[in-house]
Amino acid sequence: MISEFGITSKGEKAKLYSMKNGNGMEAAVTDYGASLVKVLIPDKDKKIQDVVLGYDSAIGYEKGDVYLGASVGRVANRIGGASFELDGKIFELTANDNGNSLHGGREFYNKRMWEVTGAEDNSVTFTIHSPDGDQGYPGNAEISITYELTEDNEIKIQYHSVPDKDTLFNLTNHSYFNLSGHASGSVLEQEVMIAADAFTKADEESIPTGELVSVEGTPMDFRDYKAIGKEIESSYEALVFGQGYDHNWVLNGSGMRTVAGMRSKETGIVMQVDTDLPGLQFYTGNFLVSEAGKEGAEYKKRHGACFETQYFPDAVHKEHFEGPQVKAGEAYSTTTVYRFSVEN
Ligand code: GLA
Repeated sequence: MISEFGITSKGEKAKLYSMKNGNGMEAAVTDYGASLVKVLIPDKDKKIQDVVLGYDSAIGYEKGDVYLGASVGRVANRIGGASFELDGKIFELTANDNGNSLHGGREFYNKRMWEVTGAEDNSVTFTIHSPDGDQGYPGNAEISITYELTEDNEIKIQYHSVPDKDTLFNLTNHSYFNLSGHASGSVLEQEVMIAADAFTKADEESIPTGELVSVEGTPMDFRDYKAIGKEIESSYEALVFGQGYDHNWVLNGSGMRTVAGMRSKETGIVMQVDTDLPGLQFYTGNFLVSEAGKEGAEYKKRHGACFETQYFPDAVHKEHFEGPQVKAGEAYSTTTVYRFSVEN
């Protein structure tokens, strides 16, 4: 189903695409920013819960700067010093985060109208043309993002591009999930699991030092489900630097696999995250202050948690970190799945 989703300050008419599956689950996405707007799922009491933070119309997405539901690129997360070298050339990016480049730096992908190049009952494909030099990155690229709602209650997100020059790609989805409902407040009592034996140590500006640190015996250990809030206020250096969880975990294994989970005892809703990528930024909304969200909701600090699948932050400056370089004419293709179920 397609409906109007507001008009941006540039006069662009945004649309909302709603998808339904046979289990009563629904998801909605908009062409403004290729953003994920709604995820509706019946909870253990058959009450419909919307478990993703968002805005009522494209205008909210245009004004907001906390990346609710956002598609982020060309390179999500941080590039130290906002520049990098590729094929012997230096590329300058915009420093928008303590002298570093965050989430593309400028002309953010989540602030653009995407073209709809495919829309079926259960899937929508958004495409943008990102020209050579866009945000400072080399190479022309048609970038497509496909959202699909499957009969297995999965929101499957596929990213694809073939650049015409060597470049960098590291796209992600920045949705904030709250499995007790988007307007229910803090997620600190909800539980999270991250299948990672290590995380990338970072400095005060969240730039990795290059060191992989074992999670064993630290508040970063999520190998078994635990409440997000259990150790979030600990004086462990990483948590002090991040003002809570805002770190990259070194995901165990490779290829498409389940890497994380979240669950709410209140609603019984469980979400599992699958990806083919090596890293996951688990971010607990530490910088949410007061965001006017859907249906009059007010989103504050730690009212949602993000599971941003990615190549490690600043990988372009760390030889032992995989990606995010992509060769001219070669395909950048990656998939992340958010899968939902309900426990009683
Ligand atoms: C990512 C970053 C955070 C923060 C959010 C956006 O998760 O790692 O530090 O910038 O995006 O608010």
